[in-house]
Amino acid sequence: MAGEGTNEALTSLAERTASSAPSAVLLPAGFLWGAATSAYQIEGSTAVDGRGESIWDTFSHTPGRVHNGETGDVAIDHYRLMDADVELMGRLGLRAYRFSVAWPRVIPQGRGAVNQAGLDFYRRLVDRLLESGIEPMPTLYHWDLPEALQREGGWTARSTAHAFATYAAVVGDALADRDTSFLTLNEPWCAAFLGYGSGVHAPGIRNPESAVRATHHLLLAHGLALEELRTAGVSEVGITLNLFAVSPATDSEEDRAAARAVDGLQNRLFLDPILKGSYPEDVLATFSRICDLSVIQSGDLSTISAPIDILGVNYYTRHTVTAAPKSPAEGASQWVGAESNGLVEPEGATTEMGWPVDADGLAEVLIQVSRDYDAPPMMITENGAAYDDVVNDQGVVDDSERIAFLDAHIAAVKGAIDWGVDVRGFFVWSLFDNFEWAQGYSKRFGIVYVDYANQRRLFKASALWYRDLISRHTADLGDDES
Ligand code: FCB
Repeated sequence: MAGEGTNEALTSLAERTASSAPSAVLLPAGFLWGAATSAYQIEGSTAVDGRGESIWDTFSHTPGRVHNGETGDVAIDHYRLMDADVELMGRLGLRAYRFSVAWPRVIPQGRGAVNQAGLDFYRRLVDRLLESGIEPMPTLYHWDLPEALQREGGWTARSTAHAFATYAAVVGDALADRDTSFLTLNEPWCAAFLGYGSGVHAPGIRNPESAVRATHHLLLAHGLALEELRTAGVSEVGITLNLFAVSPATDSEEDRAAARAVDGLQNRLFLDPILKGSYPEDVLATFSRICDLSVIQSGDLSTISAPIDILGVNYYTRHTVTAAPKSPAEGASQWVGAESNGLVEPEGATTEMGWPVDADGLAEVLIQVSRDYDAPPMMITENGAAYDDVVNDQGVVDDSERIAFLDAHIAAVKGAIDWGVDVRGFFVWSLFDNFEWAQGYSKRFGIVYVDYANQRRLFKASALWYRDLISRHTADLGDDES
């Protein structure tokens, strides 16, 4: 994103804007306060009402793939507890809820017959949300590819992009009359690089060429789905990318080049085709050493770069990059084509995931995108942190670290807005504790605690803090039109 040499200036700019913002700062009227989840992480009920299998069912049931052999078979039972869960969102005063639609619930084999029962679940969810004054924001793909399509190559096959477009049309047609905004994909980087490169996510493939092919087909799927959603009459469409602040570990030329390579793979590889209609030259050069690039066909980039209304940004941390990692990563690298690069852990706090806490990086990312691209309005579609939450003797989860984390990141959003970035909303990841992919249930990201033994929900201190923050905005700004 940033041109070389500009990182330092941006960092201090981000620092100035972020640190000048008061705690629990007020954001503009109409700002969309929400929380996010995804289907496989919360729904459970994986074998009911005609749902087909997804790659995460297969992966989580494969020994050794997920912490403790845990699966999403039950998750937090949201499929069955949906009404009560929406009621709980109402009690928090959420203005918006970002969830994902499970492709294998809607089209169990990935293409072909539509499963009405699956579609009805999401129609009911959307209706409940609207009745409660909560804006629904569905994401069409949060990593749960139908297993039947994986047997045909999954995202390495171009046909999967076309199957996704048909699925998008089905969901778009079913929900367009509800005037719902849509996001096509969640974090294509993870789907491609963790799913097909390092193999730590489903489908667990470790093959650099597959990761490159998957990247292009995911982006193509996004573009093809956009067309279908517009045809269905959906008025607001976007995509969610996971962007990282990236900086070199030292000022050496090698580290700066390494940081540039990681920024290319992590950020520009997705931002450039979507917002500029071309792949970054340096990343293409890297990829051409791995495989031939005939996967990119003529016309694809104009499909991929069709206008979007919203850019969803998921932000968690900064990558501090070194060209000379002390201990080379085990197994296959996620840095396809730039495998020798590594991350160093800067001083300071980390979350339970081991991710450095770096709120300034969020302002930095937002400012960079708006400066380097002709970007649409942005939304923070995920931000949050895992901590080792416990219910204390008083029956309270005192997650003050999470409150501080969210407070600092919201202040950073305010800093970016003051700088001139158009940011329209903020979604906490996550509304609930849930199945954290390869980490199973060992990492709690929710502002609502879930007791997995009995599925009881309990507001953590952060949920109450967030409720008050939202209501303060509603009261102070007269922003109560919903
Ligand atoms: C993001 C994912 C989300 C969750 C958070 C912690 O990469 O989109 O499902 O796992 O990280």
